[in-house]
Amino acid sequence: MEYRTVKNIIPNDIENGVILSINTNSVTQYTHGFHKYPAKFIPQIPRWAINKYLTNKQDNLILDPFCGSGTTLVESTLSGNFSVGIDIDPLSAMISKVKTTRINELELQKIIEWLKNNLNKPQKKLFTPDCKTLNHWFTDDAISKLSTIRTLINSIPELFGKEQKINDIQDLLIICFSSVIRRVSNADDESQKTYVSHTKIKQPEEVYLTFLSQLDYFVKRIIDFSNYPNLKTANTLILSSSETISETFNGQKIDLAITSPPYIKAIDYVYNQMVELFWIGDLFQMQTQEQQNKKKKLYIGNKQIPVTEFRNYSPNTANLGIEALDNKLQQVFDSDKKNGRKHAYITYKYFMEMNKHFQSISECMKKKAHYIMVVGDSDVSNIHFDTADFLSIIAERNGFKLINKWGYKIKNRFMRFDRKGRGGIIDIDWVLDFVKC
Ligand SMILES: C[S@@+](CC[C@H](N)C(=O)[O-])C[C@H]1O[C@@H](n2cnc3c(N)ncnc32)[C@H](O)[C@@H]1O
Repeated sequence: MEYRTVKNIIPNDIENGVILSINTNSVTQYTHGFHKYPAKFIPQIPRWAINKYLTNKQDNLILDPFCGSGTTLVESTLSGNFSVGIDIDPLSAMISKVKTTRINELELQKIIEWLKNNLNKPQKKLFTPDCKTLNHWFTDDAISKLSTIRTLINSIPELFGKEQKINDIQDLLIICFSSVIRRVSNADDESQKTYVSHTKIKQPEEVYLTFLSQLDYFVKRIIDFSNYPNLKTANTLILSSSETISETFNGQKIDLAITSPPYIKAIDYVYNQMVELFWIGDLFQMQTQEQQNKKKKLYIGNKQIPVTEFRNYSPNTANLGIEALDNKLQQVFDSDKKNGRKHAYITYKYFMEMNKHFQSISECMKKKAHYIMVVGDSDVSNIHFDTADFLSIIAERNGFKLINKWGYKIKNRFMRFDRKGRGGIIDIDWVLDFVKC
């Protein structure tokens, strides 16, 4: 495949069909590097869209309806534009909130000093996660130190007050804490999956050293961010993007939408964040594995579907009415003897939910506003799905017009995911440029 190489900045005009190879090592500026997140996109993508479509204008309203770790929101805030992020995942919403919230530096320094001074002091009532398998995931030393940090963070409102500025610092510390959990756990940190490898034994990092060094990084970055001139507010909402979202904006219309929706069947966001959720999931009723399993059913593209839901599914009777797509669903159904029905149903459901999403977002966008969607194609039971093209047809049914499609090569290991030989590695993301008609 031929690529057009660009350095750091994506050019304004890219011809239809071109695939870029974007060379950059600046993807962690300001708060962008705060927390790992699966399939995070590079800040250059929203930056490109904002520069191209909102030239010299501030105070616009930008929406990311699948905001993940808030990349679009950070770029919107820095560019002097208001933004709203929507995600079904509460951890993602919290990461996004922290990455876009200005902090009171004096209060922050005071709380950090207190935290550092208390790490080695015995705490009265230690926080303990509601997780029966904790010893599988963490050493005793890690459990004791993580418990101490979380206990201290919990006591912040009691000691420093319940005002918003203190609450914002508490959230920042929770996300900083969460961002080191995988590293100090026994779980492999090379893969998207959360598991303890018995062949590649891991030496977990020491909790206090790792946390304190991460804290220094967070403090420096959040102070730089907070001092940035003309920052605008970003709001993050925990809800599903396939629900009706128009009420959310009180009649205000969106000037630009930028997003990367989930892939079909590829990422289990909840499973990926399992060790973090053991330690902070109590904040949003996702601490236990039972709670996590219940919640993950609501994610678009999720593959944990109960048999009762797909038992009677057939592409003959329930389909999208898009010939090429319906044929592919039929091929999955027929060719995969073991899982054909289930996989065809998951794929059908994915496109149905994305159809609902386009319906609902279409109502909230200004006429002629652009919707930039970054998405990768997928293989299901060895059948290739041109997800980007099918989503374009679905978008056009719902009041959008595709005006350009270009691609870029995915370079970050955390964004590439293997499908165990069932389809290789997704290594191109397509950028779909829609206009609201
Ligand atoms: C590819 S990720 C977005 C990553 C983001 N661009 C970033 O830079 O971090 C897709 C997101 O869609 C979210 N998601 C899945 N199902 C959803 C739904 N029904 N409604 C809203 N968000 C959903 C996932 O939780 C995930 O955060």
